[in-house]
Amino acid sequence: MVKIDNITLPDFPLLLAPMEDVSDPPFRAVCKDAGADLMYTEFISSEGLIRDAIKCRRKLDIFEYERPVGIQIFGGDEDSLAMAARIVDVTSPDLLDINFGCPVKKVAGRGAGAGVLKDLDLMVRLTAACVKATKLPVTVKTRLGWDDDTKNIEEVAERLQDVGIKALAIHGRTRCQMYKGQADWTLIGKVKNNPRIKIPIFGNGDINTPQKAVEYKNRYGVDGIMIGRAVIGYPWLFREIRHYEQTGELLPGPTLEERIAVSKKHLRLSVEWKGPVTGINEMRGCYANYLKGLPNIKEFRSRLVTLKTVEEVEAVLDEIEAYYKGIELEHAPIELIDYHQNCPL
Ligand SMILES: Cc1cc2nc3c(=O)[nH]c(=O)nc-3n(C[C@H](O)[C@H](O)[C@H](O)COP(=O)(O)O)c2cc1C
Repeated sequence: MVKIDNITLPDFPLLLAPMEDVSDPPFRAVCKDAGADLMYTEFISSEGLIRDAIKCRRKLDIFEYERPVGIQIFGGDEDSLAMAARIVDVTSPDLLDINFGCPVKKVAGRGAGAGVLKDLDLMVRLTAACVKATKLPVTVKTRLGWDDDTKNIEEVAERLQDVGIKALAIHGRTRCQMYKGQADWTLIGKVKNNPRIKIPIFGNGDINTPQKAVEYKNRYGVDGIMIGRAVIGYPWLFREIRHYEQTGELLPGPTLEERIAVSKKHLRLSVEWKGPVTGINEMRGCYANYLKGLPNIKEFRSRLVTLKTVEEVEAVLDEIEAYYKGIELEHAPIELIDYHQNCPL
């Protein structure tokens, strides 16, 4: 098993990555069902949290069934980050995660997220301030470095461990890479195999098949794997990886009935948590993923995105289930999208 301070996880835990506008409570619920061992909230701005912005406060919602769950915050100011850590304490997640990896300009350009990778002393001070401010285990998620010339993750890992973090998740890209090219796990492996490092090291970047997850586990020795894009619309990857890791066999993909059931559960929870209008509207982007691989699904999909009530959506989902009953679904590798391709650097 793997321990993050007082949190016990199974061997080779599978983590749901924090993802803004994606890893909210409804999505986390379906990922938990599919076998995620540890999950994180979307990132929350420390400044926003202090100002009590409604959106930020809602991001603190966690439910008992999702535990263990971590709340992720970001910021570039020691006092604000420490105060945000104290606010997070009150909501009792299992851990507090600091984001030093977000590459987008509105975050990194203002000296938070991956922006902190340019100033390791600041990163250490910010982390120490959080560790001091909270009773929760503090973990960090970051990238290899700012750019190709400053891949300082080995030093980062040692220094952050020294100020008290309990685990480190590393996305195998630099800030300047954003999502370009392939994640490079070599340095993640080096951090893991540094005898000075005692905390769990989680590898992140481009995992989209069970084979790749297990190959990277064996090749780089990481304690666990964090998965982001591949599980958007395909939470079943968690159970497929676990099964392959334990048996060496590939599970078949989810049945049509499971896809429909997960669509309905995600919808129901979205409406419960976000209210009917936002809940239904925001689910519109999800059906395409859940129903991927069904031939000629376009017409059903265009109906799904115009409906206004849960009952209407569920009725169309039932229709889809009846229409495609018995169909063999293809089980193609999941495509990884460059979500930030249009972000200014
Ligand atoms: C839509 C989206 C939102 C993201 N939001 C966050 C976030 O809030 N905090 C964070 O640390 N990383 C965030 N990330 C980065 C992911 O956590 C992860 O590091 C990255 O997607 C690489 O993993 P993957 O190849 O498995 O997707 C986000 C990624 C995506 C695609």
